[in-house]
Amino acid sequence: MKIIVVLNNKGGVGKTTSAVNIAAWCARLGKKTLIADFDPSAGTSRHLGFDPDVNRVKTLCDYLVDENRDLNAAIHSCSEANLSCLPAEPALSDFYLEVANEEENHFFINREQIPEEFELLFCDCPPNMGPLAMNALAIADYALVPVQAQFLALAGLAVTDDLLDKTRRHLNPHLQILGYFVTHFDRRTRSAAEIFELLQQRYGPLLLQQVIGMNVKLVEAARAGQPILSYAPRARGTQEYGELTRALLTRIGV
Ligand SMILES: Nc1ncnc2c1ncn2[C@@H]1O[C@H](COP(=O)(O)OP(=O)(O)OP(=O)(O)O)[C@@H](O)[C@H]1O
Ligand SMILES: [Mg+2]
Repeated sequence: MKIIVVLNNKGGVGKTTSAVNIAAWCARLGKKTLIADFDPSAGTSRHLGFDPDVNRVKTLCDYLVDENRDLNAAIHSCSEANLSCLPAEPALSDFYLEVANEEENHFFINREQIPEEFELLFCDCPPNMGPLAMNALAIADYALVPVQAQFLALAGLAVTDDLLDKTRRHLNPHLQILGYFVTHFDRRTRSAAEIFELLQQRYGPLLLQQVIGMNVKLVEAARAGQPILSYAPRARGTQEYGELTRALLTRIGV
């Protein structure tokens, strides 16, 4: 199993949209895929139809307080074949800290607990780099960084780069950078092309050439609780996430 953590310390850059839609494409391409929501705001969970305000299912919170720590009970099949979700809920952050105060171990979600049937695990992280994000980083093989095509977002990237660097030095030397890719890319503007060029200079081959353009269908799909490939199969966002996913699978070698 390969574990991919999707992170960027800036909020609203497209982490959740990308984690969900890349995971859904992996599933569509025949990979048994799990997506874990490490964000108490539960964006990934809602995007896949597990809205904690509408219909409560077992989440990572239940797992944390379960005596047996059985992760299986909190893993739910999605409507997309081959795709499962490990949802979050708003209490997750408090629960995590409470358990952390009681136990010596710092990380509660470990590679050994993920059922072996899954070939890929995507972890969607909150924008803050608290204990949940650190747990995901501690167990990941790869980090994948979505970058919003805005100049201000570029300036903040140094914080994410620094965190990845520190993670590799102190927490998880095994962590590799899978890549950086551009989201919210507005082809009509020159600044989007300039940003791409700057990223190309900064990251070289780590920058994926596949970009995700602005696409309102991505917003609608999230609201409908579905990945874009089932909500709007012919949308540009579906095609772009498909191309990006194929490139990522090639990099991972699966
Ligand atoms: N390519 C896109 N085109 C248009 N809207 C998008 C695109 N990608 C994401 N969005 C929208 O932008 C908003 C932020 O996206 P998303 O929730 O994926 O970001 P995030 O990085 O997970 O945010 P947070 O840091 O708050 O978790 C959402 O409303 C989403 O639907
Ligand atoms: Mg998010």
